[in-house]
Order: sequence, then structure tokens, then C-alpha cells
Amino acid sequence: MSHIALHRREPAQPDPALRAFAADVQAGLSAAQKNLPAKYFYDRRGSELFEQICELPEYYPTRTEIGLLRRHGRDIAKLIGPEAEIVEFGAGALVKIRLLLDALNRPRGFLPIDISGAHLSDAAAELMRDHPGLDVRVVAGDFTAPDLKLPERLPGAQCRAGFFPGSTIGNFTPEEALGFLRGAARMLGEGDTGNSGLLIGVDLVKDPALLHAAYNDAAGVTAAFNRNLLRRINRELGGDFVLERFAHYAFYQPRQQRIEMHLVSLAAQSVRIGGRRYDFAAGESIHTENSYKYTLSGFHKLAEQAGFRPTAVWTDPDSLFSLHWLALG
Ligand code: AVJ
Repeated sequence: MSHIALHRREPAQPDPALRAFAADVQAGLSAAQKNLPAKYFYDRRGSELFEQICELPEYYPTRTEIGLLRRHGRDIAKLIGPEAEIVEFGAGALVKIRLLLDALNRPRGFLPIDISGAHLSDAAAELMRDHPGLDVRVVAGDFTAPDLKLPERLPGAQCRAGFFPGSTIGNFTPEEALGFLRGAARMLGEGDTGNSGLLIGVDLVKDPALLHAAYNDAAGVTAAFNRNLLRRINRELGGDFVLERFAHYAFYQPRQQRIEMHLVSLAAQSVRIGGRRYDFAAGESIHTENSYKYTLSGFHKLAEQAGFRPTAVWTDPDSLFSLHWLALG
């Protein structure tokens, strides 16, 4: 008689996020065109490298978008109106959300949606100190999930304004981007939609030489960011990638209006990850990221298909980057 057996603990299960990572890596490296999802770039080191990318002289998006937020804060505040609830898709750099909150008239709420259910408490406390009356609630979840539910709109919030800066939408294919925009329209459009809408940063089609430079910086930070994904696989999944045997390769594809990033195997080689073997021919690549670029009219069409009305757009004098207000009401 051993009731104890009934209560025995199962061997510790790896956490679901790690299992998903392992499954995605296995599927991606088994495909004809090997690939890895770009969302896995952002471990601790990857996030640090991305912050360094944002400071690079060749990487224009971050500083251009910050300039647009500063320059047009007052216009943005007029469109969104007072006492708005802000929903940020992905809990990103607090620099940008701060610029938005500082511009707005008595913002009521801030809902950052973050997959890791982020450790934002210090930052949240600071935001609330600087914005009395701001209610901050972190929503743990995947903002690309079609069934993600947000909490009810705060009592007294006049509208819901989404915030999706950084041209993160560029990581999606146009079909996925449409799916994301439809989901955002659903989440933001609950209740009286008066001033509700989405403020979104979108990188623009431009001289390919400028795009090429932005993803092939002289200091090699983007290359390190790309290769760091292999290091993460080694550490978290027990892989044996030799980073020096893969070259960073990024190029613009005009037909699809996207930057593609790859890691190219510099020799015929095999890599083992958690008991599986993956063979690489010399010159074979792993496709690690797409970064789509849009024209203003191309993006407007997509937004309209998703049920938004694109009512304002701000760009810099060189037309490098765009910030759109997509209205719902
Ligand atoms: C965060 C997806 C907007 O596509 O420019 C930067 C990521 N990759 N350099 C981008 C990235 C290489 C970035 N996004």
C-alpha cells in the first residue's frame, strides 16, 4: 500500500517557454530553408545588443521615431484627447512611452502587454509618481494571440489608445501584420470608441544603400546580435554551435520590401542540439529575421483593411520613418 506513490512529484518539467523555444528551433532547423523566429533574439544579452543597435549612427529608426514623438507630441495629444487609457503592445523602451505620456493630457491608464509578464514594477512606480492618476497594470500575454483579452476599460477613461512603436510590425509578414492590426482594432475598439485608435511606428521604403547600412553596421553590433541567437540555443537548449563558423548576412529584397537577416554556414558542418543533429552545407543559411518596410500608401491600405481610419501621419524631412495615427471612431 503506498499512497505515497500517488503523491510522488513528476520529474521537474522544463518550463513551457523553454519547451516552445526547443520546438520552434527543432522545426525551424528541420525546414528546407532553415529558419529561426526573430522573437528569440531578446534574451538578456540580445536585449542589450539591441539597445546598442538603437544608438548606432547607421540605425536611423530609433532616433527618428523619438524625434517624431517629441516634435508632434502636441498634435498627438489633441487626437487622443484627455484621460486616455494607453495599451502598449510589448513592454518596450520606457523612453518612448514616457514621451507619449508626458505629451498627453491627464492619461488615466497604462496597460503594457508583455509575454514575460515583465518585471516592470520599479518602472511602473516611477511612471505613477510622475503621472498622478495614472493606473498601471501589466498584462501578461502574447499580443499576437488572437484570443488575448484585456481587462475592462478603466472607469472614467475617455478612450483607449494603442501604442506600437519601433516598427516592430516589420517583423510580421504583411498577412501577419493584417492579423495583428485586426486584433488590435478589436482590443482597442471595445465600448465607446470616440478618440480610440492606434499610434504606430512604421519604417519606410527608401534607398537600399541606407537600409543595407542600418543592418550591416561598421562596428559589427548587428552581426553580434544575429549570432547571439546561436549562443542562446547553446546555453538554453544544449547546442554546440561554433559562432565563428556562421557569418552575419543581411540584405534588402526590393520585391518583398524587406530586409532579410541570415546566418550563413562558412563550411559543411553538423550541429547537435539536445540529442538531434542538424547538417549544414557550406554556404547554407539560417533565415533569422524579416524586417518589412512600407510606403505610406501601402501601410494605409493595410490599416484600412483592418478597420482603421488612418487620419494622421508624421514623417521626418528625409522620409526615413513614419508615425501613424489610426483612428477607430
Ligand atoms: C525591432 C524588429 C524593429 O527590424 O529594425 C534591428 C530589429 N534587427 N537590427 C528592426 C533589428 C536588426 C528591429 N525591430
